[in-house]
Amino acid sequence: MTLSEGDNLKSGKYTILEKLPKEEGEGGYGVVYKARDNYLNDRDNSLNDIVAIKSLKKEEVTPQKYKDNLERFKREKDTLKKLQSPGHPNIVKYYEYFEENEIHYLVIEFLDGNNLSKLLEEKGKLKYQLAFDYIYQIGLGLKYVHGKNLVHRDVHPKNIMIVKTKVKNKQKTRAVLIDFGNVKYRELITSLHISIPHYTHHKQRDGDFDPKFDVYSLAACLYYTLTNEDPTRSEERERRRSRKETDLPPIKTHNKKIKKNVQKAVYKGMPLEPEKIPSMKDWLNLLPKPLPWRWQQLTKVAQATVKNLNRFLRHML
Ligand SMILES: Nc1ncnc2c1ncn2[C@@H]1O[C@H](COP(=O)(O)OP(=O)(O)OP(=O)(O)O)[C@@H](O)[C@H]1O
Ligand SMILES: [Mg+2]
Repeated sequence: MTLSEGDNLKSGKYTILEKLPKEEGEGGYGVVYKARDNYLNDRDNSLNDIVAIKSLKKEEVTPQKYKDNLERFKREKDTLKKLQSPGHPNIVKYYEYFEENEIHYLVIEFLDGNNLSKLLEEKGKLKYQLAFDYIYQIGLGLKYVHGKNLVHRDVHPKNIMIVKTKVKNKQKTRAVLIDFGNVKYRELITSLHISIPHYTHHKQRDGDFDPKFDVYSLAACLYYTLTNEDPTRSEERERRRSRKETDLPPIKTHNKKIKKNVQKAVYKGMPLEPEKIPSMKDWLNLLPKPLPWRWQQLTKVAQATVKNLNRFLRHML
């Protein structure tokens, strides 16, 4: 059952505003809605009463598939709950979970923006400072996830949301990781659903608990963001390598502005040999620092220069 604009859930607590468009070919296991939380009083009209509600599709699937999907959906809820204390700005916030008329719903923070895939469809490849900024933020979110003994296992451009927010009247961009249905807990055997192969190393297996595969996927997202091309699947890369061919087209082929050291940093995150994939912390250290950090440094340099100039002038006069 699909809900329509104006429909209510939880005895009027939530009102559906719209169904978020599903992209063609997306095999999603549910429908995502934008809704209003009527219990919140949004005096400043800042979108604070707007939520996203993910629902689980019951029709068009076999009972067995529904059972698997429900298990995945509940795991997503449990994971998001675990990630709330203390929470992280680059991980989507969890609000609540409920069942109504035999449909399961997951209420989360509404992210007012586009996923990375849509953003690139509209804008083409991103400037490298922006690309690094977004990927760096997701890297920080994943570091937090790994610290909680969890691996995301489904990092790809459609699961990264880019949101513009106002902080103290300044426009800032926040990159947020979503879709925790494929997550792996260290202590729990969880099956792996087939993710987008361009972004998943083929050696990532069901029983594996290896946070490094998230690094591979995130580096693959950076490759995509800089080139607007999906990176070659790891299995195909292996075949090409055995034929002594270039396994991954250099970023420069698609983006002439990219310097060699930048390309090197991207490639360091996605080696074919799993044992060579660095930890998230080590890989992030190889990347140029994100924009806010650069601005802070520039401001510090500018302040120091003005101070020195003042001192110099005082001395001269
Ligand atoms: N909190 C949110 N705020 C705004 N949009 C969202 C939110 N969560 C998801 N979306 C949108 O819905 C799409 C699908 O979301 P998500 O990946 O969580 O669902 P899914 O059913 O697991 O889909 P799939 O299996 O196709 O990945 C996202 O790519 C994004 O465009
Ligand atoms: Mg998804």
